[in-house]
Parts: sequence; C-alpha cells; structure tokens
Amino acid sequence: TIENKVDSLLSLMTLEEKIGQMTQFAGQGAVTGPEIGDEFKAYLEKGLVGSMFNVFGAKGLRQLQEQAMEKSRLRIPILFAADVIHGYETTFPMPLAESCSWDLELMEESARIAAEEATAAGISWTFAPMVDISRDARWGRVMEGAGEDPYFGSLVAKARVRGFQGIENYQDFAKPNTMLACTKHFAAYGAAEAGRDYNTVDISERTLREVYLPPYQATLEAGVATFMTAFNEVEGVPSTGNKYLYTDILREEWGFRGMVVTDYTAINEMMAHGYAVDLAQAAERAANAGIDMDMNGAAYAENLKGLVASGQVSETTINRAAARVLELKFLLGLFDDPFRYMDEERERTVIGKPEFLEAAHRGAQRSMVLLKNENNILPLAKDQAKKVALIGPMIQERMSLNGEWAIRGDRNKSVTLFEGLTQKYKGSKVKFNYAKGCDLLGQEGTKGFAEALRVARQSDVIIFGGGEDFNWSGEAASRTEIKLPAPQQDLLKALKKLGKPIVLVAVNGRPLNLSWEDENVDAILEAWYPGTMAGHAVADILSGDYNPSAKLTMTFPRNVGQIPIYYNHKNTGRPLDPNNWADYKSSYLDVPNSPLYPFGHGLSYTSYAYSDLEISQSSFAKGGKITASVKVKNTGKYDGEEIVQLYIHDQVASVTRPVKELKGFQKVRLKKGEEQTVKFEIDESTITFLGLDKQPTVEAGTFDLWIGASSADEQNHIQFTYQ
Ligand code: IFM
Repeated sequence: TIENKVDSLLSLMTLEEKIGQMTQFAGQGAVTGPEIGDEFKAYLEKGLVGSMFNVFGAKGLRQLQEQAMEKSRLRIPILFAADVIHGYETTFPMPLAESCSWDLELMEESARIAAEEATAAGISWTFAPMVDISRDARWGRVMEGAGEDPYFGSLVAKARVRGFQGIENYQDFAKPNTMLACTKHFAAYGAAEAGRDYNTVDISERTLREVYLPPYQATLEAGVATFMTAFNEVEGVPSTGNKYLYTDILREEWGFRGMVVTDYTAINEMMAHGYAVDLAQAAERAANAGIDMDMNGAAYAENLKGLVASGQVSETTINRAAARVLELKFLLGLFDDPFRYMDEERERTVIGKPEFLEAAHRGAQRSMVLLKNENNILPLAKDQAKKVALIGPMIQERMSLNGEWAIRGDRNKSVTLFEGLTQKYKGSKVKFNYAKGCDLLGQEGTKGFAEALRVARQSDVIIFGGGEDFNWSGEAASRTEIKLPAPQQDLLKALKKLGKPIVLVAVNGRPLNLSWEDENVDAILEAWYPGTMAGHAVADILSGDYNPSAKLTMTFPRNVGQIPIYYNHKNTGRPLDPNNWADYKSSYLDVPNSPLYPFGHGLSYTSYAYSDLEISQSSFAKGGKITASVKVKNTGKYDGEEIVQLYIHDQVASVTRPVKELKGFQKVRLKKGEEQTVKFEIDESTITFLGLDKQPTVEAGTFDLWIGASSADEQNHIQFTYQ
C-alpha cells in the first residue's frame, strides 16, 4: 500500500531530509524559463526541498526535476505547484464572475481545463480554489471567490475541487491530466477588518461556523488533497499557528487527512503579529498547530532540526508532516515517473486548444451580469442604422482583461472590447467611432475629454468601457472608495450632459459603488474580468446574440458606508419598514438600508413571470419532506435562461436566524412563451442550523419561503411549519 511505501521511505530518511519535504520554495519565473536562486539550488541538490512553485513549463521543470533526482541522496521528486486560479493559459472569467453564472458544471469544466493545461506544463498542484466568503467589497480578493453566501459558496467550492482533481476517489490522483487542489485560505481570510488585506479577523465562533467554515468543509466532501493557511489571525491566534483551526477542527472534527501548506511566509509573519518572539518560536507554533509545509519562509528549514533536538517539536510531528507530503507524491505517481507532467509535446498540443477557448468564451458570456437596461436600450440590433461612440479606457484595454490572478494567461492574447465589437458588427448598419477619453489609472487626467465629447456628439448612442486596472483588485488591492476611478466618472458626467443614451460596460474585480451610474446611464453590463475571450463575450451580449443570464453572488452597495452588506443578515429589534421610514429604527439618515443591487439580481433581454407558488403540504415532521413549486414563464421576446432561487426564513428559533437564506436554485432554459414548473424539495436539511451548543439542530416552528428572481424578490411567498 501507499502507506507502507511512505513508511519504508521515511525509515531511510534523515531528520533533515524529512524537514526538506516540509519545505517549499518559490522560483523566479525568468523570461527564458524557470530559475531558482542559488540559495535554493543548494537545498535542492541536497534533497532538502519538497516542493517548488512559480516555476513553469515542461522543459524547465524537467531540468529542475532532473537536478533533484540526480543529485539528491534518496531521489525524491519535487512537487511543482502554482496559482492556477481561473485558467492556466486559456483564461476564464475571474472566479467571482464565473460564480455569477450559477452554473456549477461550467465552473467544474473551467477548473478541469485549467488542470489539463497546467499539468501539461509540469504543474501538479494548484493553490485553488479560494473559497473565502466575502462580504466586503473593499477587499481586493473578493474577485477570487464565489461571493457572500455559504450555501452557494459550498457548492461552487466542491465543483472547483472536482474540476481540478478530476477524481472520484483519493487513490485516482495518478491521472496525468488532473492536479491536487488546495482549499484556501483557512480560515476566514475574507473577514479582514475594514476590507484591508491581511488585516485582523475578529468574528464570533458562531459566525465562523455558520458563515465562513461551510465552504472549506465542503471541499473535504469533494476529496480535496491540500489546505492553505490564511494570513489573518482568528481569535487572537494567527491562522498559521492556530491549533484549534488546524488540529481540532480540520483534522479531528472534519477528518481531513491531506496536507496543509502555509500561505507565503506566513510562519515568519507570526513575529509581526506578535505571536512569536523569533523565527524558531514561529516554526514551533506552526509545526505544533499541524502545519505540514512552509511556503517560502525557510522557517522550517532553518529551525525544525533544533526544535526537535530541544524537544519542542516531536519527531512524530515531523514524520507525520513529511508522510503527508510523500503520500501525495506517491498518489500522483511521481515515484513511478517523476517526469510524467513534463511532456513538451503534450504541452504544445494541449495548451490553448480551440475547444478550451470556446469554453472560455461560453464562460465569459454566462458570467456577465446585466445590472440595468432602461427602456430596453440593449441589445443594439445589427440591422438598425446607428452611429455608436465607443468611449473609455477599457474599450482598447487588453492587459486588464484577465484580472489579477491569471499569472500564466497571456494578456496579449485577450480580445479587447474594441476588437470584439468591431468584428461582431462588421458589415452591419451599426457604425463605430472611438475615443479613449481618459486612462484607467487617471494619470492622463482630462486631456482626452474634448476628443471623446466630439466623437460622442456625432453619435446616437455611447458605449462607455470603464472599470478597474487589473492591479486594482486581487491580493493587496483593497480600496476605501469603490467607485469608478474619478476621471472615468468625470468623463461619464460630461458625456451625460450631451443627453445621449449611455451604455456602461464595466470591467472590474469587485462590486463597485455604481449609484451615480445607476441613476444616470441607461444600461449597465457588469462584465467583470472576463479573461481571454472578453471582447467577444461583451459583443455577443450587446448585440443580443447572447441573452444575458448571470446574477450577482455578491451584493452591490449604494456606498462604502453600507459595507459590510449582504442579503442574509439578521433582523434587529427595531427593523425598519423599507416602505415607511421612521425614527429610532435601524436605518441610515442618508441612504436606504437596501443595497444598490441585491444578491441574486441580474437582468435578461426577456422577462419572466413567476406564479402559482405552492407547497405539497403546509407542514412536515421528522423524516418528512415537502415540495415547493412555482411556475416560471418566459413572457418576453427572447429565449433565455433564468436562475430561479429558493429562500427561507426561520421566524423564531433558539438562536436568531438570518432574514433570508438561499436554500436552492435552478438555472432553467425557457424559449419565448414557454412555461415550466420548477420544483424544490424541503426537508430537515433545509431548516437545520447550529443550535446554542453549535451542533446541527432542527426546531419546530413556522418558516417563510420565497421562490423568485433575486434575494429581494418577495412576490411569491408562502409559509410552512415543521412540527
Ligand atoms: O496562493 C497564494 C495565496 O493565495 C496568496 N499568497 C501567495 C500564494 C502563492 O502565490
């Protein structure tokens, strides 16, 4: 068995070699291929490196593997890792965008394709999926997750793990086109105070367990192989030294048997946190918390030997951690063939296959959310003679389209909005004129405004391409102001004065404050960072060749002051009646409590009517279930797909419950005029929550149930009881 193989290998290893397996170094992705610093080369040759990341390409990785195999004493292969987040070279929409498709198969497929490409380039371990629940749009990393809902986030998390790992069972990792996934960042990285990256997290055990933990735990059900620590502290203890999280919850409560890696230098950072006096103490705390591998910090490499000698870390702990790393290498088949992922021919033929591009195109279409479409200004028919002004810094922008976490995606290959649109409307009656107007970062100021206004004056409609530079979201990219950058908004304000219809196409990584735009422009398409096929997907939607079907998985606030804002909040003792503002109620003086665009919101070119909400019985008891059904009819002029959402509210419980909780959804395809009955089953799992003792519990009582088009759609409401 693999266990025997691991044991017999361990018995041959020195303590230093075992610690080597717990050590990971980053390479430097040089232009000519992967390179590693001289300091790491020595480690590598002595067999003191378990894993490397940020080195790419079949040829270069083969060379590194050869060095490790030829020079090291026991010839233990290196495990090569990378941040393969939303595609490898073929870049899919950023994960938050993709989640707005509510299409789990699509998300699994994009992870599958990412694994196909990455494994052909020598990588067999990805640092994904990121499953951190995000309720704060200031935090730049919201782009990498699936938004704010734990139920939804758990389903997405599982789909992504299944896609990367492509296995049914833990023993199947040896397939050469699948890779190890890594659930990150455990735990609650998304709850950073004030949305500032790496900041302190201070949440109750209940919120941790009810809101933040479910997606991490869900990935265990999908058989995830590895976990990554988070940079933040939880309850005063940095995650990377947090025994409660890693030993008590992850291993003992959830039964995780895979390997845990730190985030980048996170052991070292425990000194700055004020949790370790020096690197040795930090290493001791991490090792004893149950952290197996040190990412790029050399904390283990430099200190564990001494810590074992002084008895502060036991050799059993080292053996266990090294065994977990070795087990994965055996499972991947690296001991049978250390070069199995380094096949240049495969790399050449697999990366960028036309069907992968086609999937990225489909993914981009399905991820873009139509936020507003006044008077059905969109779509812009090809057969109507129109002069269209293409204005704004995102129209010809190429570099930002992939977003931040697409480290191997070739930014030069991404299709710009300009290219997509001009290609789409070529030979049609729609004629374009272009002016950039301003740049993304605002460095050029207002000097392009006059030309933009000139072009706009000559046209019937303005399409404004704006948004965030790709460095404005992602890691270490928090913002306190989440509007469109000032010059872009100023330009829009100037264009507005011309009185022409304006369509805003926003390319960005987080929910923005689009309050001004919502009031002043006619249509808004939230295109997110769409990846390689960006321009084509935008053109498909603007032209009506694709009818938008995506819905938000993260709330758009009216302004930063409303943050954190999320649909599944609790009620207060003084809830405000949204239709009747009153003093001394829980409210703001300056804006309503409601968001600008709620969770689940997204428009289509057609319309859907919901009717006849029914439940099979008004009550059920232990072991029972009921069916809720609703008729959904496509009442508009286009075929389309609607994301039908089921929410419940537990009216009274021993622990207060959110005003609404998503409990099911279906994406249904309806031709124009077509009607379908959509059904959901309700059973105890639907109404289970964590009781006072934090154990899953079900209580008798009355529940509200809504099936509708978004979390704010309350038209179809019914009640049921559980006895
Ligand atoms: O995987 C990432 C992590 O999400 C953030 N810090 C760096 C890691 C490796 O690149």
